[in-house]
Amino acid sequence: MLELNHSKGSSDISNDEDDNSTNNSKHDFKVTPWEVEGEIDYNKLIAQFGTQPITSEIIERIKQVTGEVHPMLKLQYFFSHRDLDWILNKHEGGESFYLYTGRGPSGMVHIGHMMPWLFTKYIQEKFGSKLLFQLTDDEKFLQTQDRSREEIGHYTYENILDIIAVGFNPDKTKIILDTRHIQHLYPIATEIAKRITFSTAKAVFGFSNSTNIGMIGFPPIQAAPCFLPSIIENKPTPVLIPAAIDQDPYWRVTRDVAERMGYYKPAQIHSKFLPSLGMVGKMSSSKPETALFTIDEPEVIDKKVSAAFTGGQATVALQRQLGGNALGCPVFWYLRYLFDTERQSDERLLKCSSGNLLCGECKSDLSKESQKFLGEFKKRREKAKDVIAEFMFDGAPYEK
Ligand code: TYM
Repeated sequence: MLELNHSKGSSDISNDEDDNSTNNSKHDFKVTPWEVEGEIDYNKLIAQFGTQPITSEIIERIKQVTGEVHPMLKLQYFFSHRDLDWILNKHEGGESFYLYTGRGPSGMVHIGHMMPWLFTKYIQEKFGSKLLFQLTDDEKFLQTQDRSREEIGHYTYENILDIIAVGFNPDKTKIILDTRHIQHLYPIATEIAKRITFSTAKAVFGFSNSTNIGMIGFPPIQAAPCFLPSIIENKPTPVLIPAAIDQDPYWRVTRDVAERMGYYKPAQIHSKFLPSLGMVGKMSSSKPETALFTIDEPEVIDKKVSAAFTGGQATVALQRQLGGNALGCPVFWYLRYLFDTERQSDERLLKCSSGNLLCGECKSDLSKESQKFLGEFKKRREKAKDVIAEFMFDGAPYEK
């Protein structure tokens, strides 16, 4: 396999508060749970956040269970972790672990959001894990002044359909909607909140004097599901969180209070971001023309992919002469992460760099594959409407 990169124990919070800020002018990129900017150097992020790289030894241990290596691990899309080796120890010792992941329902779901969910589903299947899936409708209401409860309620419903359509095991998956299931979170959240100072929250999340106090008080609500499994199972229960690395600040403060509260520290497996079709920054709902949404119609997908930025040269003649820059091309990365086999992808890279492949061909492959994938997904999304109650934490329906 070609090794490619698509861009360049005790407390998880150091004493130097500046070092913990994810919003630090020392760095030429910024990663917070609410903002991702600049060209991210993932190795620097590992050092800055104090996480661990995923080693070949860990991948080999996962393979002992799964029998194969998932492409997102092989291609280093999931690149960093905290205590994943410990989770594997627990599993090997016969102790089961919960999975926990989530979504902030501020818009429709795009395929960037789906990447950690597809991986979570795979881990659920292979390890037989139960999953808590949190919908932070409170966070998204609080985050900006211009979102109404009705708007968030609409996206909550639409996002629930996406979550169910991913194909999680209905017997082992529960969706927690913050404003509806708060009674299960609040006792834990207040225990957590009591142990985190404003000074720590400011340093970790970059809060300032102009941040509304709802947002400042929110992190313990996202931390609470890390400990809920221990309450449900009535014994300390390990938890693994698959998510992109933007969510890591939450886990840093959670891990810091866990043992003091009598719980295990939650473990994480962090992914990179799926780039936008414009290649500037991550795929984001705020730039809908450069994101592929699960509800996009085939002609919309085709239009977006046709207009995508590529690593190609300005003219066909130059492309033939100089070759393209696949590693700087979102079309290449989407195909590699989602649709190509490893061999197809390596061949695509070589053909592109040697000028034997034109961008139109890659775009046509991506458009076709995305239409197929999202077409199937849309059918499952429709069926999801009938089974919402089965997935909700309280077993009650959620109406549009
Ligand atoms: P949200 O809705 O911003 O994102 C949902 C999930 O998608 C990941 N993500 C991406 N992954 C790859 N490429 C991208 N371009 C991209 N954009 C977003 C996020 O890391 C996340 O995993 N506060 C959270 C909701 C939440 C949560 C959780 C997430 C609550 N509990 C536990 C993960 C784990 C949020 O607003 O996520």
